[in-house]
Amino acid sequence: MAKLENIFESILEDSLERSLSLRFDVCTCTKCRKDMMKYLLMKFPAVYLNKDDSEYTKIERNLRMKHSIKILQEISTAIQIVNDNLPHPVEENREESFNNLLSKIKKERGIDFSFYHRKLLKRRVAIRLAANGVKSYYEYLSVLVNNPREYEELFNVLTINVSEFFRDPPVWSAIRGIMMKLIAEHNRQNKPVNIWSAGCAKGEEAYSLAILIREMGDLGIPLKIYATDIDRNSLETARKGVYRPAQVKNVDKESLRQYFVLEKGEYHLKDEIKNMVDVSYLDLTSSFSRRNFDVIICRNVFIYFMKYLQEGVVDKFYKSLNNNGYYIIGKTETMMPESRVIFKEVDLVNRIYQKVKI
Ligand SMILES: C[S@@+](CC[C@H](N)C(=O)[O-])C[C@H]1O[C@@H](n2cnc3c(N)ncnc32)[C@H](O)[C@@H]1O
Repeated sequence: MAKLENIFESILEDSLERSLSLRFDVCTCTKCRKDMMKYLLMKFPAVYLNKDDSEYTKIERNLRMKHSIKILQEISTAIQIVNDNLPHPVEENREESFNNLLSKIKKERGIDFSFYHRKLLKRRVAIRLAANGVKSYYEYLSVLVNNPREYEELFNVLTINVSEFFRDPPVWSAIRGIMMKLIAEHNRQNKPVNIWSAGCAKGEEAYSLAILIREMGDLGIPLKIYATDIDRNSLETARKGVYRPAQVKNVDKESLRQYFVLEKGEYHLKDEIKNMVDVSYLDLTSSFSRRNFDVIICRNVFIYFMKYLQEGVVDKFYKSLNNNGYYIIGKTETMMPESRVIFKEVDLVNRIYQKVKI
């Protein structure tokens, strides 16, 4: 004969499990789980039934529904009580907690930092640990749970959105040369030009391109620059087009006068440049499938990515580019040997490559 079981035990075990799978900020060891269950079982009257009883499933479902709110409330209390009075010393497995932090970010904000350089990420997260006065990732996870706005601060340090107009000035005369050649070719064939600044930070790179192209006069063909990033605060600034003097220090005086309005110490980009650029969110680690670009400029972004991630993004860039499309990477970055088959060198010093049809 099958044994009688307290239906609440399985309901609570199952609900607790689900709640804990979303909590990276609390201890979930066997001992703590047991204590949580002990607390929960005291809060709900035992309902004994034979597991083989034909009514078991129906009764279980009804109990779940009837007590759903109380179950959630009590689980939250149980987790809180046990974690406020841990039945063992706090021992942090830093690697595990760091992984938990990355999983939480991925689950809640959809950004996968798992293949970013770990040491760099840790150095950046340490800034936020110090700012919040906590020492462990474990404690920092609690900060994120209690104050979701901390995410913004965390992303600010993780994404490192430092940029400026015409960053690395010598590269820009090479880019000008490439753009003139490309536009002349497209003009002859009456074809539009599409450019993508991937990892655009606050738009400085995309708008530098827009200024450079504007200076070429009437192109005779449509041209659009797409600027994307994962940092929403940076994208907001890009859309506004307002910059501090340090960000525009490489813009020559004449262009500053012509394309910006200086107001209360900040440089406001004029609409004629802003309208050339389309700013939007795009996570390069996601499975994007943008097509039909003649130029992709992605500088100082891969420095954060591990090789595995870089390879995936380069493959996707290859598909996004038209044949003979240009691919421009950062001055400090190198093209992986594997990618040299699909991209040929155009200007090694300035890291400009061109798609090879294979
Ligand atoms: C140092 S900035 C580079 C800005 C500009 N390209 C330049 O060279 O000056 C790096 C940018 O890459 C962005 N970034 C980092 N990971 C990204 C991802 N997975 N998808 C898109 N952008 C990302 C960051 O938010 C940041 O704005």
